[in-house]
Amino acid sequence: MSDYIEHIPVLVDEVSELLVWKGHGTYVDATAGAGGHVARMLDAHPHVRFIALDVDPEAIAYLEQKFKGTDRVKVIHGNYRDLPHILRSVGLSEVSGVLLDLGVSTHQVLAEDRGFSFRKPGLLDMRFDPSKGVSAYDLVNKLGEEELADLIYRYGEEHKARRIAKAIVESRSKGPIRTTTELAEVILTALGRRHGRIHPATRTFQALRIATNSELDNLQQLLESLLDVLEPGGRAAVISYHSLEDRIVKHFFKEWEKSGKGIQVTKKPVVPTDEEIQVNPRARSAKLRVFMKGG
Ligand SMILES: C[S@@+](CC[C@H](N)C(=O)[O-])C[C@H]1O[C@@H](n2cnc3c(N)ncnc32)[C@H](O)[C@@H]1O
Repeated sequence: MSDYIEHIPVLVDEVSELLVWKGHGTYVDATAGAGGHVARMLDAHPHVRFIALDVDPEAIAYLEQKFKGTDRVKVIHGNYRDLPHILRSVGLSEVSGVLLDLGVSTHQVLAEDRGFSFRKPGLLDMRFDPSKGVSAYDLVNKLGEEELADLIYRYGEEHKARRIAKAIVESRSKGPIRTTTELAEVILTALGRRHGRIHPATRTFQALRIATNSELDNLQQLLESLLDVLEPGGRAAVISYHSLEDRIVKHFFKEWEKSGKGIQVTKKPVVPTDEEIQVNPRARSAKLRVFMKGG
């Protein structure tokens, strides 16, 4: 537990206020991470119960320790795309609300052995669950040049994707690209060292992380079944950190409202105050949208 790096929860008061509409319900934090949102809502709403779900085994070990003193939180290891099945496995068919705080936790970004950040030397991995699936190393070293360029363009919205993919393929012909810093160096060399506000490797790393974890597919799949697991009046709150995620959430909420399945509680996304961004710069791109299922 002591090795797990804490995470400052984003828009925590706003989530607590907008998600918890019923003081005795069961709510799911489907991306519980370091449990910051759950902890705040437990304090603010003394009779609610939580399912704290995460796909990352290190987060699960931390959450189990953090909430071991309360029977109001049940910690479950799993992928939120399987939420209906996970709920059935604990005898629930409906819950009062579901929170999704998308993206990476501070622990994942800062822990060198997780390989998420170009600022931290480490083996390229980027899997939320390192025990399963294909890693960023596999994508970088095994995909064809065109596939790699498409991935970087699509998930990173990187206009220089072709140039980056070409440089990666050239570099790996001399030997595999094994670490985060090796990959960042290849990108810096391909794009030139002059850069503006964001580091030239930012978009490529985002793209690899999204692809490694099938993030957009997971989100899409969860949203397709989310209304089935919410009780009437139940709420879904989603915090997104980039336009690819937010576009999907916005689309679903709009369609649900149009087809009479409920209403958007947030007519416009809620964003952090300047004060919050000053304390927690990671919050700067956050957008919170909340939907309420009809009765
Ligand atoms: C931004 S962090 C959440 C931080 C959390 N709200 C807190 O207060 O500490 C996102 C978390 O979502 C988890 N995650 C990402 N994709 C997931 C998925 N498909 N299913 C379950 N958890 C997932 C990550 O492992 C990470 O711990």
